[in-house]
Amino acid sequence: MKIIIAEPTGLCFGVKRAITTLEEALKRFGRVYALGSPIHNPQEIERLENFGLAVVHEPSGVPEGAVSFVRAHGVTPEIFAALRERSANIIDGTCPFVKNAQERAKTLSQEGYIVIILGDVSHPEVRGIVGCVSGEVHVLSGAAEITEQFRGKRCGILSQTTQRVETFAALVAGFVSTTPEIKVYNTICRATLARQQSVRRLAGEAEGIIVLGGKNSANTRKLAEIGAVSGVPTLWIEHAGELERSWVRDKRAIGIAAGGSTPDWLMKELIQKLKMM
Ligand code: F3S
Repeated sequence: MKIIIAEPTGLCFGVKRAITTLEEALKRFGRVYALGSPIHNPQEIERLENFGLAVVHEPSGVPEGAVSFVRAHGVTPEIFAALRERSANIIDGTCPFVKNAQERAKTLSQEGYIVIILGDVSHPEVRGIVGCVSGEVHVLSGAAEITEQFRGKRCGILSQTTQRVETFAALVAGFVSTTPEIKVYNTICRATLARQQSVRRLAGEAEGIIVLGGKNSANTRKLAEIGAVSGVPTLWIEHAGELERSWVRDKRAIGIAAGGSTPDWLMKELIQKLKMM
């Protein structure tokens, strides 16, 4: 059996940067309070908790005078202010691509556009972007959600950084036919685009694709969707322990792709297991 590893794959620039910053803070301060899981990967969180990470879900969960951490997804300006009030130190791990999306949304709103965000309304990154908008804002999951309310209005469109390019293109196309003035910022991040492309390439070479990454990771979900849409049998697992011999059997070439929040050590474990099989 041949193992083909997607290129590029695994930890993206933004998550790597956030985790390195967090690890440095843990070494320096011993205890750091992250608002929400700093990486959408349960195994990596467990590792960081052993070094002193505490995950809280509200700014009020950070003890007065403690060190807090903002993850790569970013937060709303209000939440950032609340953290600043409580913390002696804030370590800001917001990914620069997410910051860019926040800035674009804010500018569009200031320019008088109705802000349209392609994304998952419940995702923390999207909530953070929405929080930067002072005027009207809508989060849509795709072109099918474009309604008459936007007809004739000025719309500014951007995307959650991890959305699929095809979905964004279809959304923009949908607005072109109903809206006299649109302004579009393609805020899908380069790391996401490259990882999505790498899964498409795998689909041309492999008889099965394993997508490795947290079930709560938006970008991993998109990779699994791309694999499934390609028609090549695609398996989405969080760790090597979930892989069964029966799935691998009879496949001459297996492609592996890891989400942008999947640490290298989980990838190594999976390759090791496949080799043993
Ligand atoms: Fe940033 Fe893109 Fe990763 S937005 S956190 S580099 S998936």
